[in-house]
Amino acid sequence: MRVAVLTGGGDCPGLNAAIRAVVRKSVVRFEDEVIGYLDGWRGVLEGDSMPLDIERCRGILPRGGTILGTSRTNPYTIDGGPERAMATLERDGVDALIAIGGEDTLGVADRLAASGMPVVGVPKTIDNDLSGTDLTIGFDTAVQIAAEAIDRLHTTAESHDRVIVCEVMGRHAGWIATYAGIAGGATAILVPEEPFDIDAVCEYLRHRHSFGRYASIVVTAEGALPAEGTITVASPELDQFGHPRLGGIGNTVAAEIERRTGFESRVTILGHIQRGGTPSAFDRVLATRFGTAAADAVHEGAWGEMVALHGARIERVPIADAVATLKTLDAELFRSVAEVFFG
Ligand code: F6P
Repeated sequence: MRVAVLTGGGDCPGLNAAIRAVVRKSVVRFEDEVIGYLDGWRGVLEGDSMPLDIERCRGILPRGGTILGTSRTNPYTIDGGPERAMATLERDGVDALIAIGGEDTLGVADRLAASGMPVVGVPKTIDNDLSGTDLTIGFDTAVQIAAEAIDRLHTTAESHDRVIVCEVMGRHAGWIATYAGIAGGATAILVPEEPFDIDAVCEYLRHRHSFGRYASIVVTAEGALPAEGTITVASPELDQFGHPRLGGIGNTVAAEIERRTGFESRVTILGHIQRGGTPSAFDRVLATRFGTAAADAVHEGAWGEMVALHGARIERVPIADAVATLKTLDAELFRSVAEVFFG
């Protein structure tokens, strides 16, 4: 078979490990020929691809980013986009396409699969907000990076008796904030799913600081929302998929904390550091398991399906189910575990 692979949406550590796994299994087990489309759906629309073989994939397992490049191009916002995508696969003699992506890239894959494209999905996003799978590639590494940053912020906060607000990614879901906040011993964690009351946050800080010297870390997801009628935040721009370009809520939170409590506050926005660099060992293994399972799925003709982690097992779910609704934070984890340590 001639198999194509692409990586779309925001990059994350572990994409190269997944590409390498697709290539290895396809070539060694199935004697397939593999090509990679460049920059996600842009490469499919424009017929821009490169050959992929075992030699080309040497050394990429621990490397962050993606050797194929990525973009947020959406064929459904381009005139004749879906037809052009179909025509490219036909022209390139591609029998199957493996799309490695999050809700946007796989949302497109789902619609194209419904129109007859032979597509299999692989879930990735540091946000971990894709349904149908317990975990996505990149999440574990992002949490690791954020937790390590919080450890470092603790020592400088202690030296200066400061509050430090650490803003992490997570536009619609607070998975990174909650995991990193638990791992890093945060005094409060602010997430999109639970609108926060800045007065309650200040109360947690006053309580903690009533015992003498103080140093607190408040972790906020970039998409955290203030409860209605509390504080206001500026409206962000939108990308091609209509998502807000976020970043900056941490500044507002830090300023409000300092104004209301008098505690000296600083802010650190981790931003794209969470998406860069080498994947954790867990993400390398997950990406390798997903990539090899995707090659199997191609040979079983599992079009329109996504490989997924359920407990310790790799299974498959319809891509349509994975992209139907976002997987928001487990409320039980937030209320019964994270919140117990606030203040
Ligand atoms: O891929 C998800 C994500 O990392 C979000 O957490 C973040 O809001 C967004 O991507 C940032 O996207 P960009 O790379 O376009 O700035």
